[in-house]
Amino acid sequence: MKILFFSAKPYDRQFFEKSNETHDFELEFWETHLGPHIVDAIKKDNYQAVCVFVNDQLTAPVIAALAEKGVKIIALRCAGFNNVDLDAVAAHGLRLCRVPAYSPQAVAEHAIALLLTLNRKTHKAYNRTREQNFSLNGLMGFNLYQKTVVVIGTGKIGAAFCKIMLGFGCKVIAFDLYESEELKQLGVNYLPFENVISKADVISLHCSLSEENKYLINANSLAIMKKGVVIINTSRGALIHTKDAIEALKTGQISGLAIDVYEQEEKLFFKDLSGSIIGDDDIQRLISFPNVLVTGHQAFFTEEALTEIAASTLASVATLIKGNEPSDLNEILV
Ligand code: NAI
Repeated sequence: MKILFFSAKPYDRQFFEKSNETHDFELEFWETHLGPHIVDAIKKDNYQAVCVFVNDQLTAPVIAALAEKGVKIIALRCAGFNNVDLDAVAAHGLRLCRVPAYSPQAVAEHAIALLLTLNRKTHKAYNRTREQNFSLNGLMGFNLYQKTVVVIGTGKIGAAFCKIMLGFGCKVIAFDLYESEELKQLGVNYLPFENVISKADVISLHCSLSEENKYLINANSLAIMKKGVVIINTSRGALIHTKDAIEALKTGQISGLAIDVYEQEEKLFFKDLSGSIIGDDDIQRLISFPNVLVTGHQAFFTEEALTEIAASTLASVATLIKGNEPSDLNEILV
């Protein structure tokens, strides 16, 4: 049985081929992302499954085309599924699996790396000292100890982030549609959204993206935050209204912004564009701020996470293809 991979990078091939040693799938890797431009190139009745990533476009027409080509399973090698039309998957009788929890710590630890870098400016110090510039001017940060850190979304990644921040001695308050008893026992307080964001020194976004929370961080919510708030987003780009964030950076309402995700990232991330002219003025503006840090969706990118992603994805496909259901139903979306 053949699985066709989209948006495939050398590291995807490396980890999936290794994991496939315990299966017997034929794996075919295409570098291009999945979208309407490529579906005609998929050979009919040749692939029973496609394996896709965060920026592949699984719109209704693309899903209809996959079904027409004989694809039976769509395997997301990620946790988020905001790029998939779930109704279309169900309507065409396809199955859809994902990797709900490959390594929450990988993402939480990257959020911490962004926060510490942004605050203590280690990226600037690194460049300075390589130039034999040992001046400290402009490198001042603040203690995280006893600061109020707000976590929006306390699922698997948010919970891991809360625990690390509690270890730093921060006051951790949170907002989620569901409260975690475990986190409450550890000292996390839950409050309504407006209340938490108005108290925050630091806000870290860890909720999944939905129609309801698109642009959660916008001009209105920014206006009720403390002046000088620091915002970290490792979740999904569209949680932040980028132009509103740019305005807030200009006025100093946001004193630091670190993003691993960006609303228009599918045109940019995972590619080397160092020789290109980038037409996206918002990302160019963001990168121009000295207090903005951008990483290209790398929060998940650890050896442990990639090993688990490959193992879990192939195991789910193997189970579904036999007509069985995985023991962890969180892996199955349709
Ligand atoms: P999860 O499903 O365990 O947790 C999501 C939490 O968000 C849930 O507790 C849910 O109740 C909460 N939530 C949903 N809507 C909300 C809202 N409007 N307000 C407040 N809370 C809300 O998911 P997990 O594994 O913690 O992942 C979170 C997100 O992180 C994913 O949806 C994905 O977008 C992102 N992610 C980013 C990665 C990266 O490399 N940058 C890698 C993996 C995930």
